[in-house]
Amino acid sequence: MTRTHPPRILQRLGAILLSATLAGGAIASERPLPLVPMPASVEQSQGEFVLDARTPLLAGNEAERNVARQFAVFLEKGRGIAPKVVARSRRGGIRFHLDPARGGDPESYSLEVTPAGATVTAADTAGLFHGAMTLLQLATLDEADPIRLPAVRIEDAPRFAWRGFMLDPARHFWTVDQVKQVIDAMALHKLNTLHWHLTDDQGWRGEIKRHPRLVEAGSCRVPAGDGAIDPASGEPRPYCGHYTQDQVREVVAYAAQRHITVVPEFDVPGHATAAIAAYPELGSIDTPLQPTSEWGVFPNLFNNEEATLAFLEDVIAELVPLFPGRYFHIGGDEAVKDQWQASPRVQARMRELGVADETAMQAHIVHRLAGFLERHGKRAIGWDEILDGELPADAVVMSWRGTEGGLKAARMGHDVVMAPVSALYLDYLQTSSPHEPPGRPATITLQQVYGFEPVPEGLEPERQHHILGVQANLWTEHTRSFERLQHHMFPRLAALAEVAWSPQGKRDLESFLQRLPVQLQRYRRWNIGYATTPFQVDVELQEEGDEAIRVALSNPLDYEVRYTTDGSAPAADSPRYEAPLELPLPATLQAAAFFDGHPLAPARSWSWDAESLLVRSDEQLDACRGRDALRLRLEDDGPADGERAIFDTDIFYPCWQWTAARMDGVAALKVRAGRIPYYFQLAHDEPHRRFEPARSAHGELDIRAGGCDGRRIASVPLPAAPGADGFVELEAPLVRAIRGRQDLCLRFTGDTRPQMWVIDQVTLEKR
Ligand code: ACM
Repeated sequence: MTRTHPPRILQRLGAILLSATLAGGAIASERPLPLVPMPASVEQSQGEFVLDARTPLLAGNEAERNVARQFAVFLEKGRGIAPKVVARSRRGGIRFHLDPARGGDPESYSLEVTPAGATVTAADTAGLFHGAMTLLQLATLDEADPIRLPAVRIEDAPRFAWRGFMLDPARHFWTVDQVKQVIDAMALHKLNTLHWHLTDDQGWRGEIKRHPRLVEAGSCRVPAGDGAIDPASGEPRPYCGHYTQDQVREVVAYAAQRHITVVPEFDVPGHATAAIAAYPELGSIDTPLQPTSEWGVFPNLFNNEEATLAFLEDVIAELVPLFPGRYFHIGGDEAVKDQWQASPRVQARMRELGVADETAMQAHIVHRLAGFLERHGKRAIGWDEILDGELPADAVVMSWRGTEGGLKAARMGHDVVMAPVSALYLDYLQTSSPHEPPGRPATITLQQVYGFEPVPEGLEPERQHHILGVQANLWTEHTRSFERLQHHMFPRLAALAEVAWSPQGKRDLESFLQRLPVQLQRYRRWNIGYATTPFQVDVELQEEGDEAIRVALSNPLDYEVRYTTDGSAPAADSPRYEAPLELPLPATLQAAAFFDGHPLAPARSWSWDAESLLVRSDEQLDACRGRDALRLRLEDDGPADGERAIFDTDIFYPCWQWTAARMDGVAALKVRAGRIPYYFQLAHDEPHRRFEPARSAHGELDIRAGGCDGRRIASVPLPAAPGADGFVELEAPLVRAIRGRQDLCLRFTGDTRPQMWVIDQVTLEKR
């Protein structure tokens, strides 16, 4: 269910904004200039410079011309004009000026706009480019024609050198064109590091010429379930994708032009199923493997033979020249050691190498590869599990399991990138709206990303320079389309950008939320498909009776909420939501979040009557295990093409709770259930998975009142399979009448793997 809270921040903000005046495009001083990330220093003054198609873009040398052209391309996309780049002009223009004598951080720049023109100055093309991106933001403050750049003086430099985003093309593949769109969006946010997770259990994504089977056999998987079958031929339809080395070069060059470094990841010794499927001799078991169509943590590790380590080095040797950056990621995460422990060969080799245990064995591999990388001019970076064994002095730690690994590593003298799962994993959903796409429904809100502080508390000042920066990671198990990828990325990447770039003292959530609506306008212009869920209104049904209901409205970012109850669209003068609403039945409600008199996203609408109150969808049900549940929002496996149903389910225990269901007069429950593949590997968490014992051939749906420990009030046997549409309607008459409000526990019995029953909708049927 959605949370409720009054719109606090924006109440205050609204008052400021309504009093703020926009005279001829000049920005009233109470309002921060809508720049994201906020520059280090911004001084506004009087006046403005008008930018139109005839404004010359002045550039004296090739490097300056390149940046000026890049500015023109983005400007054309954002505002529809493409001024010319020229060497000199008598008209006041925009000057792109490289001044190596400036010195300082190569990413720093200054930007001055006066009524006579604008100048971006930097010592290095990286800084000049970032300055051009800020200028572009000044040119996209509003939609007014002509463009008026407010007079301003900006001095700017990044707080952190590593401002990263991790893209996972292994679980779902992203085309070169899509990766370029990601890179463009990163550039607009002054992010400078694209961590490209090229290898995993589900797919090997980078061509290696010496070992061609890595892509031949490792880059295709057959998805689990119905979606894998071609509807026309009935044949399996593999899901494939890899980048040729030419494509890798193309992406790396495209990123470099935007001052973004691509850091490849070759994950070892775990997450190796696809590679072992291609070359079984690399593995630690004799059973042949396939690139897997399941998600989770797999036991398949590279073995520790000399030939295998040489193979890993071969792969690195081919990748290194493609990636001119300083860092190379060698993974190291989630390498459960069961296969190594069980393999006499691996154990014998450990004895030969003189390593004490499996953790030391992994450390040995990390040392070997880090040394190899160093000889090739690279620094190794790995997930924080590499701290479990002795670590090469120069290795960089990416802290993902929390911030503790980063703190420990920095104290040991290692450089660190902070990317904790608790704040910066973008596959976690960003709101509790039922309109979120598939992902992990524990929420990581925009506010959480914005509030993340990369320098861990307690880290001694003399160690703080070890925090190279910060990164958001987007794993794509549950992200099947580019539209959904962008939904997860934006606007949270804007928050990350400010954490990574702006001085800590400039970080101010209220100010950020005031600037965000303009950023959304830019996203729309640049075809960046941001999430609208944070800008919509969520509803919570707090109380229901025969005559009336009470609902609470909220906006996830606390923007002002306005609503109507007469079927009309909410407008700026509609009633403002202040407190829960008592609505007589039947009721209809529409609500939207507003900023500065404009709706931030399309209004949502709801209607309730006696009949609709008898129905709950899975998103409106709770997980029986509450906070212990490992809830995922999972998509159906079919149809092969087109829209698929989405289910919220606890993958450790197939059980849903309807909290405080009104049971007076209820004679039966009707449950619409779907069935999706059980495609999870849980490694050492496996013992926590629970199935209640089945009492009939295919198990049953049991319904209890008073929670899962209460009395069973209904039970229906499950069919062998759902209908052709993937669903089944289960009719469950109550074996005894019950009264009042009851927490209903609905759970499927039996170990149904390799399938999993899931609830789509529950209806109470009256006598
Ligand atoms: C990770 O999330 N396995 C690094």
